[in-house]
Amino acid sequence: MDIRKDFPVLSKDIVYLDSACMSLKPNSVINKLNEYYNEYPACSGRSGHQLSNRVNEEVYKTRELISKFFNIKKENLIFTRNTTESINIIANNFKDKKVLITDKEHNSNLLPWQRNCKLKVLGSNKDNTFNLEGLKNNIKDVDLVAINHISNLDGVINPIKEVIKIAHENNVSVSIDAAQSAGHTEINFKKLDIDFLSCSGHKILGPTGTGLFIAKKEFLDEFEPLNIGGGTVKDSTYASHEYEEIPHKFEAGLQDYAGIIALREAFNYLNKVGFSKVEKNELQLNKIMTEELLDKVQLIGPEDYRLRPSIFSFNVKGFSPLDIGMILNSSKNICIRAGAHCVHSWFNKHDLQGSARASLYLYNNEDDVITFVNEVKKIIK
Ligand code: ALA
Repeated sequence: MDIRKDFPVLSKDIVYLDSACMSLKPNSVINKLNEYYNEYPACSGRSGHQLSNRVNEEVYKTRELISKFFNIKKENLIFTRNTTESINIIANNFKDKKVLITDKEHNSNLLPWQRNCKLKVLGSNKDNTFNLEGLKNNIKDVDLVAINHISNLDGVINPIKEVIKIAHENNVSVSIDAAQSAGHTEINFKKLDIDFLSCSGHKILGPTGTGLFIAKKEFLDEFEPLNIGGGTVKDSTYASHEYEEIPHKFEAGLQDYAGIIALREAFNYLNKVGFSKVEKNELQLNKIMTEELLDKVQLIGPEDYRLRPSIFSFNVKGFSPLDIGMILNSSKNICIRAGAHCVHSWFNKHDLQGSARASLYLYNNEDDVITFVNEVKKIIK
């Protein structure tokens, strides 16, 4: 399987190291988007004609495949626009409750809680890894622990299995922001006993504007949807309405059917490659970046690349993160992300402007990271 050949944009002369923001899309995903618009550009769950029936079938197959992927029932899976929307559904249903987050959350896993809930922020360990002892000391008076699985700031993998165990022993629910982990490592929702999981299709080889919200049935039955309208009710009068069964009560209005259907191809692609290959590749490439650059840059996060396989986040003395990004882009077409990565809170706390962040995925190879390493060395010189 020649992975790089499956990603049309890689035929250009670029080094793409910004998958933590947006993954590239394989041909199979792009073709599926076109298939929808060319062959059955209709709506689902409404019209009953042949084109609409085809959309029903394609959306159903997608829900089925993704449910298998996370080991959940189809009714537990809600299509959203992105991780942000998924987390907002939870926050809107946890009004005035006490929520514990870490000090390294993306704005999407901070602002919704800040607006709706009483917030407690758990500081990380010195090396930016998860503070399990701190969690144990602070769990008693909270209703929900809401943390990222993999940090978009430095790539650190949080010990969600242990976190869920501690939380559940204290009757506390757990929401996992899996924006950076879904598609990089296996997530077995049922086995891990997760309460809520949110992620974005656009970081998992899928189309933009696609997201997933997965939750246990007992919450979904009780939760109010974020939006209500077409498709969410069995019946309505001028005075009232009766919700559809889950998941449909959460999927209001015409959906991004092309995106949802094409997202199935993203998961098919991941199944074909397999997580062991994805993980091995990220580890190998991050090892090179870390060994070559560790003593030359200010790294964000732990020195051990095995604790943060998909991300290398750093600063170079005398250069702003934006400068680094611009130089890499103009010298060798290297695409990284530079700035605060929507984690302003952490950078403010540490009195830093931001960082330059190189992030890896299954289509990256040694040539990519060697080009990156050489260009960063030139900047340092
Ligand atoms: N959360 C995305 C990133 O970190 C947008 O780049």
